[in-house]
Amino acid sequence: MLCVRAPGRVNLIGEHTDYNDGYVLPVAISLEMRVHAQPRADTHCILYSDTLDEQAEFDLRAIPEPSQLPSGFVRYVAGVAWALQTHTGCTLRGVEATICSNLPVGAGLSSSAALEAAFAVLWNTINELHIDKLTLAQWCQQAEQMYAGVQCGLMDQAASLLCEAGSALFLDTRTLFVQSVALPPNWAIVVADTGKPRALADSEYNLRRAQCEDATQAFRNLLSEEVIALRDVSPEQAALYLPLLEEPARRRARHVIGENARVLEFLTALRHADAKRVRHLMLASHASLRDDYEVSCAELDAMVEACMHAGAIGARMTGAGFGGACIVLVEKTALEPFLHTAGQYYRQYASYEPRFWACEAVGGASVCI
Ligand code: GLA
Repeated sequence: MLCVRAPGRVNLIGEHTDYNDGYVLPVAISLEMRVHAQPRADTHCILYSDTLDEQAEFDLRAIPEPSQLPSGFVRYVAGVAWALQTHTGCTLRGVEATICSNLPVGAGLSSSAALEAAFAVLWNTINELHIDKLTLAQWCQQAEQMYAGVQCGLMDQAASLLCEAGSALFLDTRTLFVQSVALPPNWAIVVADTGKPRALADSEYNLRRAQCEDATQAFRNLLSEEVIALRDVSPEQAALYLPLLEEPARRRARHVIGENARVLEFLTALRHADAKRVRHLMLASHASLRDDYEVSCAELDAMVEACMHAGAIGARMTGAGFGGACIVLVEKTALEPFLHTAGQYYRQYASYEPRFWACEAVGGASVCI
């Protein structure tokens, strides 16, 4: 019997930048998926989700197409198997696996990426594939795109596989440069779930991606053929040329270009534990996601307000948006009163029941010892 764990993630800053060749800064959190697996002698997979009390099966010699599978957890697992087999040319070993999790589904904490990462590590181990974690992350991303139909970037899978304990992960999604950035030891990471399920997130997500491509094309026409992604437009060029773009491409591009610059500034602020700067950048990111990118909602806005009112260093929505959770940084010494009061403030504005988790920054997916 083998046990693999894979964490969920929050993103400190750099939202909706990863499919624009930009920068992200996620943290893997101590809310995790666990897979207990017994390898089989054949190629059959029998999966049981303890959380959902659902069972599913498929055979690795004939992995079903996404449309032949129910839209639940089995799609992500089959997607990972498909990606691993396609890239390595190996037939994987069948497994009997039970999936347990304390990572809430639908809160924007990347439970799907955690599930993918767990099975990628599982098969990497039992088939002795020796694939490095960055490559596994890319294959998991392809699994999500093909089997869940979301044209996601690399952030979630990279976070679940590559993060180091006590650190955030800086990732340049163009060059694939990664660097761990230590978190100030006296700052706590709090996940503040609005309780509002993410609605329309997948279709709106793909739409945002298409709008960014429109904006990129517009900049390519205005500036040069060398504009491959919004990453290639500097804030100075944006100031000059954004007014020439049509809506909504103009505001979508303004968010992405501004957000990339904020990530780089945030890195310096984090290294200096500069709470004032961190607060400013997190709030500016949230405002930009709300007003320019239009992926926030009343509950996420209310949660940011409530958390700031309760004494947070900074707060912003995290993940794709349209519901789900906020990432909040809180001085450890202020954590108790924060947890006591943030929910009270939130309930004054929103009718959903909030949940708060003070999380550790943990390491990426691994075999449990
Ligand atoms: C989802 C996607 C990521 C990223 C975020 C937004 O979590 O899976 O790739 O684009 O949204 O930053």
